[in-house]
Amino acid sequence: MEIEAHPEGGLRLFSGSSNQPLAQEIARCLGVDVGQALVGQFANHETRIRIDENVRGLDVFVLQSMSIPVNHHIMELLLMIDALKRASARRITAVIPYFGYAKQEKKTAGREPISAKLVADIVATAGVSRVLTIDLHAPAIEGFFDIPVDHLRAAAILVQYFRHLNPDNLVVVSPDAGGVGRANDFRQRLGAPLAIIAKQRPRPDVSEVLEMVGDVRGKVAIIVDDMISTGGTIVEAVEVLRERGPLEVRACATHPCFADGAIDGLLKSHLAELVVTDTVALPPHLSDERIRIVSVASLLAEAIRRIHENRSVSALFD
Ligand code: R5P
Repeated sequence: MEIEAHPEGGLRLFSGSSNQPLAQEIARCLGVDVGQALVGQFANHETRIRIDENVRGLDVFVLQSMSIPVNHHIMELLLMIDALKRASARRITAVIPYFGYAKQEKKTAGREPISAKLVADIVATAGVSRVLTIDLHAPAIEGFFDIPVDHLRAAAILVQYFRHLNPDNLVVVSPDAGGVGRANDFRQRLGAPLAIIAKQRPRPDVSEVLEMVGDVRGKVAIIVDDMISTGGTIVEAVEVLRERGPLEVRACATHPCFADGAIDGLLKSHLAELVVTDTVALPPHLSDERIRIVSVASLLAEAIRRIHENRSVSALFD
């Protein structure tokens, strides 16, 4: 008797609760449904997971961003992986659009953990074969995993958004020394000059601008960052730039991990526009026209398709 092939060739996509709109959009791009699963809590607040369909022998992708509430979302991901592994999925890929704990990728003082390494270890230990992610805060985090990691970049999508602006009138700004490589790549793609702000953190989650290099006078300044947490880095940068006479200041970041009060702070600033991706789900009521969202869904869908078909993903890195 001929064995009937699985309708989607054995590819299944499941999602935790962190970013269901993105999961739905990726599923739409792939032409599949998001897999049926119970993702909830017991009365004592322990996470409760149950995969509600057969995954035996299938190539399973499970999507979860490590966004707020971070620890809860990580636990959901781990338990989903464990459930899928015990249900005999053939291969499990963790699709982590935003990888959390990434700012703790090294010790900055004695007796601190290297949290990003621990999170990488527990994801791998839970039972994934590979990881698909976007814009790790520090690219070296890829090396914290001993399994394959496909590390995509959102730069092309964000740059595309700004292509309608005249490059002769732009300047790309790195809001800190650590982001110079990212901003330099961005400005090369746009054909614009670079300005750099040097900041310091007197204590966690507080940023102070020290100095700025570059000319922004009469130009549209675009601040480029990988993530926004408190919004302090961007708000401070906007103020420093405004003292130097730009036409206007815009900003973009891949991961909108908005902490409490971040959106209010950003909207109260003189920022003309903020462009972010949907690696992290935004509050549904957010309707300010200065905040634009560009989607990484088709990029992730194409990467998932290629991984499933054992085709090269390298072409997507650009
Ligand atoms: C720092 O190294 C990062 O690239 C971001 O600039 C930082 O995480 C943003 O945090 P916040 O919004 O709290 O200033």
